[in-house]
Amino acid sequence: SMEEMHERIHKVRATLGEELVIPAHHYQKEEVMPFADKTGDSLALAQWSSTVDASWIVFCGVHFMAETTDILTKDNQKVLLPDERAGCSMADMANHYQLSRSWEYLQKRFGDTIIPLTYVNSTAAIKAFCGDHGGATLTSSNARKVMEWAYSKKKRILFLPDQHLGRNTAFDMGIPLTKMGMWDPITDTLKSELAGNEEDLVLLLWKGHCSVHQGFTTAQIATLREETPDVRIIVHPECPFDVVQAADVSGSTAAIIKEIEASPPGSKWAVGTEMNLVNRLKAQHPDKEVTSLNPHMCPCLTMNRIDLQHLTWSIEQIALGQPVNQIKVDQQTASSARRAIDRMFQLA
Ligand code: 13P
Ligand code: SF4
Repeated sequence: SMEEMHERIHKVRATLGEELVIPAHHYQKEEVMPFADKTGDSLALAQWSSTVDASWIVFCGVHFMAETTDILTKDNQKVLLPDERAGCSMADMANHYQLSRSWEYLQKRFGDTIIPLTYVNSTAAIKAFCGDHGGATLTSSNARKVMEWAYSKKKRILFLPDQHLGRNTAFDMGIPLTKMGMWDPITDTLKSELAGNEEDLVLLLWKGHCSVHQGFTTAQIATLREETPDVRIIVHPECPFDVVQAADVSGSTAAIIKEIEASPPGSKWAVGTEMNLVNRLKAQHPDKEVTSLNPHMCPCLTMNRIDLQHLTWSIEQIALGQPVNQIKVDQQTASSARRAIDRMFQLA
C-alpha cells in the first residue's frame, strides 16, 4: 500500500540522513513529489545538484537529467535513476553517429561558419560533441541568452535536437523563418523553411521534437478561445511554432508556474505542457481556472515511469548495499560535456 511504502521510504531516509537527496522534475507524478528535496525545471535541478554533497542522488526525472547530474557531481557521488526505462523520446532523436556524419556534411557545405548548440534534453555524447566543437548546452529558460552568445561567435547555429525550441527562440530574436532550415539526419537533407536561399540560412534545425508537446494544436486554441473568450493560453516552447504564436505566453516549466502563481484570483488558464504539472497547478490554485490545452491531456510516458514503487525500491537497495540503475557517464565524455554545460552556466 501507499502508506506502507511511505513508511519504508521514511525508514531508509532516517538511516541515510543527508547522505541521500532526491531531486524531482516538475513533470513527476504526484506520488513521488512529497519526497523531493528539490523540485525544479531542468536548469534549476542541474544547478542545485552541482551544489549538494550527498553520496546518493536518487533522480526523479528522465535519463538525460540523471546524466547531467552525474557530469556535474563529484566522483564519489552516485546518481541513481529509479527506473532505467525513463528515457526521453526527444533525446533519442539525436545520436553521436548521426551528429558527426551530419557535421561533416554541413562543414563541407558551409565551411567553418557553424556553431553547435544542444538543448539539455540530449544524451551526454551529444553534449560532449558540442563541448568539443566550441558549442554549448541550453535549456528552455536560457535559450535566448545562449543563442545570442552563439551568434556573436559564428554566422550559423546547428541547433539540436528540438526543432521547435530552436525555431521559437530564434524567431523571438528577430530571425525570419526564411533564414531557418531543417536538417533531417535520417535522409541527410537540408530544407529551407519558406524556400529561403540556402546560403542565407543562419539557423539549421535538427529534425527532432517532443512527442508530448507536439500534441498541442492551434485548433485546440481556437476552440478554447471561442468557448472562453477571457482564457489565457500558456505553453512550453517545445510546442510547434504556430501554437506558440497563437498562445498568450510561452516559457519553461518554472516560468509557467510563476506566471500562474502571479495571476489574480479568478484568472482562467489553459496550459500546454505535460499533464502532471497541469494537474498540480489545477490543485494548487482552486481560486483560478486551470485546464489543459489538450482535452485528452498529454502524459510524458517516460517521466511517469518513476513511481512510488520504483522510488521505494531504489532507496531500499542503497540501504542494502546493492544500489541499482546507477547512471554513469564515462570520464572523457563527461569532461567534454562539462565544457558545453559550463559555457551555459557562465552565460546564464
Ligand atoms: P524545463 O523544465 O526545463 O522547462 O523542461 C521541460 C522538459 O521537457 C523536460 O523534459
Ligand atoms: Fe522528453 Fe518531452 Fe518527456 Fe520532456 S516531456 S522528457 S522532452 S519526451
